[in-house]
Amino acid sequence: MNLFPSLKEKYTKEQLSARDAQRLAEFIAFGPIVFQTSRLMIKFGIFQLLRDNDEGLTRQEISEKTGLSDYAVKVLTDSSLTIGSILIDTETEKFTLSKVGWFLLNDPATRVNIDFNNDVNYNGWFHLEEALLEGKPAGLKEFGEWPTVYEGLSKLPKDVQKSWFAFDHFYSDGSFNQALEIVFKNRPKNLIDVGGNTGRWAMRCVNYDKDVNVTIMDLPQQLELMREATKGEEGADRINGYGLNLLDNNASFPTDKEYDAIWMSQFLDCFSLEEIVNILKRASKIMTPNTRLYIMETFWDRQKYEPAAFCLTQISLYFTAIANGNSKMYHSEDMIKAVNEAGLEVETIHDYLGQGHSIMICKTK
Ligand SMILES: C[S@@+](CC[C@H](N)C(=O)[O-])C[C@H]1O[C@@H](n2cnc3c(N)ncnc32)[C@H](O)[C@@H]1O
Repeated sequence: MNLFPSLKEKYTKEQLSARDAQRLAEFIAFGPIVFQTSRLMIKFGIFQLLRDNDEGLTRQEISEKTGLSDYAVKVLTDSSLTIGSILIDTETEKFTLSKVGWFLLNDPATRVNIDFNNDVNYNGWFHLEEALLEGKPAGLKEFGEWPTVYEGLSKLPKDVQKSWFAFDHFYSDGSFNQALEIVFKNRPKNLIDVGGNTGRWAMRCVNYDKDVNVTIMDLPQQLELMREATKGEEGADRINGYGLNLLDNNASFPTDKEYDAIWMSQFLDCFSLEEIVNILKRASKIMTPNTRLYIMETFWDRQKYEPAAFCLTQISLYFTAIANGNSKMYHSEDMIKAVNEAGLEVETIHDYLGQGHSIMICKTK
């Protein structure tokens, strides 16, 4: 297995002393409560209070400022102290924010991941075992009876939907500036955005290039959300919707004109490798030697920073338990193999975009 150097050292050699390893094992054993305590330290505003008070706050002061009982503050601060998100001055008994607490409070990726795990995944994790054994997103029944989360997306409870979109947009939005430069180097006139969702990338494209036309392929219910989201926006008249379910093998790519670019951002991770090959084969049918297919994904093996690889391999289990039961955040070797099996080849790979995306540029063989 190939791994970028940033990951190789960590994943091929034991890193921890026995004492640290035991602590981490206990940290995992108490993972759910470590998570909930930390989430509530944010929600109740305790981390923020500590950030705003450099000299720190006593338990009583936290209790007065939050309105929480002394008991509630005591259990939360005891727990947070041993988690490592706050520190105590034993002389003054004042708590301050540690570096971990600072990241929990201020790191946008961490915040989005916390909300995603709490609102979208938490109850679903109880069905992970079933999902792994059956190859079905067994946790999705917490919200409704759909075959995949994508079919239910427009009907999810509002807070769940909000965290899902915040999570999805956070990752892809951060890469769009660099991605636009890469894709528009070839000045595409007609671009297909496969899995275009609420039209954020399509809007960026029509604003970036006044001549480009974008066709969004997505499930019909998502196209409704897209039309709502782009209504009245400048350039929205150059965005068309093409509704279909790509899990239906008869669903084909549009042939109304020649497309110079096919864009798939955070899309192929919604499918198993077998399905990916199948979809790419259908895409290849409308590709000419001049067409380029751009696959933007967060490949866990191509990360500059190790925590990103950690997040991505954990996010894979969301696909297992909630999204569809059979997809994941892929290793780039798996994707290259699927591209080749579909009769295409990878021309170039751009790494380190935004939160850790890569873009594979593919062409016909
Ligand atoms: C994870 S979102 C990615 C959205 C966007 N491209 C981005 O980068 O943020 C995946 C998109 O693929 C669409 N999708 C999933 N399964 C699909 C299917 N079977 N047929 C068509 N579109 C599908 C979803 O509706 C969703 O809009």
